[in-house]
Amino acid sequence: MNRRDAVIGIGASTAALFTRWPSLHNQGAMAKERSAFAADVEIELRAEPAEVSILAGKPTRVWRYNGTVLAGPKESLQTIPNSYLGPTLRLVRGQNVRIRFRNNLPESSIVHWHGLDVPEAADGHPRFAIAPGQEYVYEFEVINRAGTYWYHPHPHGNTGKQVYQGLAGLIVVTDTEERALSLPDQSNDLTCVLQDRTFDAQNQFAYLSGGMMDQMHGLLGATMLVNGQPKSTFSLATRAYRLRILNASNSRVYKLHWDDGTPMTIIGADGGLLQKPLEQQYLTLAPSQRADVILDLSRHTVGQSVQLRSAPFPESEVGIDEGGMMGGGMGGGMGRGMGAMMGGGMGGASVSNGASLLLSTLKVERPERATFRLPAQLSTFGPEWDVQSGAPVRKIALDFRAGQWLLNGRTYEMDSVAPEEIVRAGSTQVWEVTNAGGMMGQQMAHPIHVHGSQFRVLSRVNTGTGAPPSVKAGIVDDGWRDTVLVLPHETVRMQLRFTKYPGRYLYHCHILEHEDNGMMRNFDVTA
Ligand code: C2O
Ligand code: CU
Ligand code: CU
Repeated sequence: MNRRDAVIGIGASTAALFTRWPSLHNQGAMAKERSAFAADVEIELRAEPAEVSILAGKPTRVWRYNGTVLAGPKESLQTIPNSYLGPTLRLVRGQNVRIRFRNNLPESSIVHWHGLDVPEAADGHPRFAIAPGQEYVYEFEVINRAGTYWYHPHPHGNTGKQVYQGLAGLIVVTDTEERALSLPDQSNDLTCVLQDRTFDAQNQFAYLSGGMMDQMHGLLGATMLVNGQPKSTFSLATRAYRLRILNASNSRVYKLHWDDGTPMTIIGADGGLLQKPLEQQYLTLAPSQRADVILDLSRHTVGQSVQLRSAPFPESEVGIDEGGMMGGGMGGGMGRGMGAMMGGGMGGASVSNGASLLLSTLKVERPERATFRLPAQLSTFGPEWDVQSGAPVRKIALDFRAGQWLLNGRTYEMDSVAPEEIVRAGSTQVWEVTNAGGMMGQQMAHPIHVHGSQFRVLSRVNTGTGAPPSVKAGIVDDGWRDTVLVLPHETVRMQLRFTKYPGRYLYHCHILEHEDNGMMRNFDVTA
């Protein structure tokens, strides 16, 4: 029996369901028969073509997630106005969620709930991709901590393109621990989704217009979009805000800062609140990473504004040194850098990683008398945070051979796992990820993402000889993470405690062009 056929339309939340209804395609009948899972929220989520006005002139044809709440709290979905981004899913820890995903695209797709720890059948593995016109039903309990997560397509080979076409949305989870803190409430809780896009002369998204180079470096767009719009602005009051920042770019790394020198006050990472707030000048955010940041404008005056920017850094800190690649050792990826030096911004060529970027202008426009005190303690982590000194260590080398980025010399194979890629549910391992690059010296920073539960970064060691890269100062390794940026010459150790749900999951580079080209592997979690 073809396993993929079995899944279509069944929405099995446990493997047992596959065998009970091996070839049932009638969803109506299915809905009546399936009773074990009592959904608190039921949502229909459709991926479909749409048109959105992004630049002046012609609207842009996009692919977008549109949603409807079928049952449960209406506020479970929150639309972002004038955006191609999908609705924000607002979930509560402990809720049982059913999502009916309808593929109204002209090609196969499947949705992954990035950062959520869900059963195998709900994780959006590429082998579950459904054809146009079909439905896939997800069922899972929200067991994650309060935090900022997101969803995006995960069909093998096409994730980069589909995300680029517009398919992505945020997931905001709340819980009682977080509600007990006096953090800015929902109306002062802003979402800030960072993406870059290159438009053609007709205002359409131009994916992989840089061809082979785009695939090797990862795609870098020329126009910065925040929440799907260029020249982003926020109209704010003299009070404190919480910003949920998601780097949903295919490959760009941001070194975020406030232009007026205000330090970044970071309260949350991929997997929710940190134990204590962190203050630093820069916040380096790699593709798929999230950060929750507090911006207290209570000492600002009406009329002032603050810019969210990405500070300049040498492209070679995260990107291929093209001089080195040619074997000439010229340094500094000239070609790419030019666009940025010429002020890039709109249309045409790409803007290099490391260019100085204006992302959003936050305008203080209303007086409000509100005092805010940041809690000194945000969260307490359980024993799963503790370092387990005896945990087995698995080494993973990031390398490049014959035009391909690889994990331990292997590329992606839909149906295979290596012996060391089989782990026990709930067990702990240390993964030691080494980024020594290819034989020709090709090196890039790779954001390594693991599906399932969140992990803890234990250490980050630079074995290179040069000065430490400037982006390092902005990297947040604190708190629970599902993605860690491994810079060139670095070895990063992380402690993983695998999901309790048995099944087949993924780990991969979250530069989407690397993932699509095989910098991804399965891992099996056994009961
Ligand atoms: Cu955000 Cu496997 O992905
Ligand atoms: Cu993921
Ligand atoms: Cu990569």
